[in-house]
Amino acid sequence: MGVSAKIAPSMLSSDFANLASEAHRMLSCGADWLHMDIMDGHFVPNLTIGAPVIQSLRKHTTAYLDCHLMVTNPLDYVEPLGKAGASGFTFHVEVSKENWQELVQQIKSKGMRPGVSLKPGTPIEEVYPLIEGENPVEMVLVMTVEPGFGGQKFMPETMEKVRVLRKKYPTLDIEVDGGLGPSTIDVAAAAGANCIVAGSSVFGASEPAQVISLLRKKVEEAQQNS
Ligand code: DX5
Ligand code: ZN
Repeated sequence: MGVSAKIAPSMLSSDFANLASEAHRMLSCGADWLHMDIMDGHFVPNLTIGAPVIQSLRKHTTAYLDCHLMVTNPLDYVEPLGKAGASGFTFHVEVSKENWQELVQQIKSKGMRPGVSLKPGTPIEEVYPLIEGENPVEMVLVMTVEPGFGGQKFMPETMEKVRVLRKKYPTLDIEVDGGLGPSTIDVAAAAGANCIVAGSSVFGASEPAQVISLLRKKVEEAQQNS
């Protein structure tokens, strides 16, 4: 399979007061990407960080900043996040039905990699046009919990979406987010996910490097067996 494993600790579970050192710690533990959860207190009932924090963090690292936009108006965030140094810009399909083409185009023009995410209750068919269009997204993020908070329980029923997507698009980056850790990675890896977001399971571990390497190993083993 042509997609490589990417392990992305969710910085939502980090100590925000020490974000740069937390980022360095995760990278030295083997993280491929840093997952940055941007919430507006409207699309989800929680408020986190925005472009100013991404800009501050960017001064301390060259790492891939995988930004997950849980916001009602993602278009408003494209320019500030591009300037701030975001790497990936993943918006939600539920709020982008009317303008995803413009969004994808703008994201690319600011040098970021476009992705689309969907909530557990959103049918997978809704993202097909965004993958198959002339100007496609480059990643699909299948939410495995309701977006908004870290530390929730993984929803196994979301795996059918990952399976369907992997079958249809063998080389697409498929990310899963929510409740991933040593006890849930097997089912996600077998379904075909290759980008794994993990917050509480990594930050809550006494040896985060071991968790990160286990997650990677499981994805790679599942790929070899598929
Ligand atoms: C939830 C966020 C996740 C969250 C994952 O809305 O999108 O990225 O931080 O945290 P865990 O791994 O603890 O479920
Ligand atoms: Zn996220």
